[in-house]
Amino acid sequence: MSKSGFRLSLAASLLISAASVQAQSLPEGAQKDLVQSACAGCHGLERIFRSGHSERDWETILHMMKNVGATLPDDALPGVAAYLAGNFPEEPRAEGKAIAGPVQISFKEWTVPTRGSHPHDPLASLDGTIWYTGQMDNALGHIEPTSGRITLYHLDTPNSGPHGLVADRGGNIWFTANFAGYIGKLDVGAGKFTEYKMPSAQARDPHTLVFDQAGILWFTVQSANMVGRLNPKTGEIKLVASPTPGSSPYGMVISSKGVPYFCEFGANKLASIDPLTLAIHEYTLPHADSRPRRIAITGDDIIWYTDYARGFLGRFDPASGKASEFLSPGGSRSQPYGIAVAKGAIWYSEAGVRPNTLVRFDPGKGEFQSWTMPAGGGVIRNMMTTHDGNLVLAESGVDTVALVEIK
Ligand code: HEC
Repeated sequence: MSKSGFRLSLAASLLISAASVQAQSLPEGAQKDLVQSACAGCHGLERIFRSGHSERDWETILHMMKNVGATLPDDALPGVAAYLAGNFPEEPRAEGKAIAGPVQISFKEWTVPTRGSHPHDPLASLDGTIWYTGQMDNALGHIEPTSGRITLYHLDTPNSGPHGLVADRGGNIWFTANFAGYIGKLDVGAGKFTEYKMPSAQARDPHTLVFDQAGILWFTVQSANMVGRLNPKTGEIKLVASPTPGSSPYGMVISSKGVPYFCEFGANKLASIDPLTLAIHEYTLPHADSRPRRIAITGDDIIWYTDYARGFLGRFDPASGKASEFLSPGGSRSQPYGIAVAKGAIWYSEAGVRPNTLVRFDPGKGEFQSWTMPAGGGVIRNMMTTHDGNLVLAESGVDTVALVEIK
């Protein structure tokens, strides 16, 4: 291209981008100026333009934004939520359906104390209590199921965005600070937090974490395209890049042999990490469009993945490299997400249907059974099996944590 040709096309593209910015200004309405001033400080308004929610869900999001520092008077929330829902409505979603089957379950649900907490990960403790990360409340919550009492532990660093959640054998609670680039530990008895900063500024969003059998903590760093290892005895952190650029390392599990596996939400791949050398081996899934978001592992080291993009549950055997896939009952747009293994079956939630479902898959019979979440789910990003084979779930968009008892 000649120099003047380049200038011309640059001018043309500037015009086009100016036009698209114009097209993307806020729609008219009594709340326009308020939204313009309250919502453009931390992120662009395109966050709003590319969203679509019901009025109730917009109101929850406004609470989330207030929790992280947006200035919006409480009495303005209903009007702003109505304005946003009117202009950025929820896209039509398929109805979540219950499928009959042989297994009986019961739900217990708790509304968390802070509205707009965005409970991200649940944790079933050995003592029968339940923890959750209040991602937009900058807190860990602790639920005592028999009394229903909930205690909040607010983090030291503001806007840490607590996300992944696990416990060590000593009962300390560990979490990823997804907005603040560190891994945190709560000594529950002392009520004291310790922060382990990522050794690289690039590793800004530690995501999912899991302990191996030797007590080493493994984690993914999604946008930074990394995985890492933290030795709790020394505090030493090692990071390595995922081989595929933009692969978004996401869910993670440990095999019976102590090998960490993770899924690449930005690619159609699973991967294993050599625990000694940190060398990564990738496994490509059969469909180019697969985007495995979370994984679970059975005692025989079979990996089960939720293919969020295609609406499938997948089974992968790392020993043979063979994958088999099962269309989720909610269909190709059902967005399977949080997943766990309990009482000999695979359990996961469909985030793309309303209400969200809890789905059970019997691997022996190849049969599905499902239930709808009483509180709606609001996207169940993670679930975990309790020591007695039940499930805990965080219902992020509806400020709820659930215990599912499987009979
Ligand atoms: C003080 C900083 C701050 C202000 C001000 C702010 N936000 Fe946010 N917003 C955030 C953070 C932090 C996130 C989460 C980012 C992430 O997940 O990476 C977010 C995410 C969002 C999302 C995506 C949430 C989702 O679940 O998909 C929407 C929509 C949004 N903001 C809308 C708004 C609106 C509307 C306002 C004005 C009332 C606003 N924001 C003002 C910090 C802010």
